[in-house]
Amino acid sequence: MAADEQFYREYILDHYKNPRNFGRIEAADITHEEYNPLCGDMVGMDFRVRDGVIEDVKFHGRGCAISQASASLLTERLKGMTLDEAQQVGKDDVLEELGIDISPARLKCALLSLKVLKVGAYGLAAEEEDEQ
Ligand code: FES
Repeated sequence: MAADEQFYREYILDHYKNPRNFGRIEAADITHEEYNPLCGDMVGMDFRVRDGVIEDVKFHGRGCAISQASASLLTERLKGMTLDEAQQVGKDDVLEELGIDISPARLKCALLSLKVLKVGAYGLAAEEEDEQ
């Protein structure tokens, strides 16, 4: 295994074992959960939005290291963004952040948290656009 890949695997495991922004936000402005249809694993996110800015975001869920690490990384990226900026975050950004090659079979794991953001904050149409 290349040194780089080793580093990224540790980085993913760290986010899995010590997830950032894990928990719930009471009286959140946006709350949404999605399930990976292939395995039943879940990621949910709560957002507190003020004046169009994501002031706080937390996630909860259960699943494989890739799905949970990806959610942890995504919350770090989203905090402080405007909803308009967050809408621009796409598949490639999430995969780049994970930093390892994701096999087609694991793509739904890696992108589950992005789906929560897209469907939760912008509705189903936004998520469908992103899948194309
Ligand atoms: Fe279920 Fe990855 S195996 S989300």
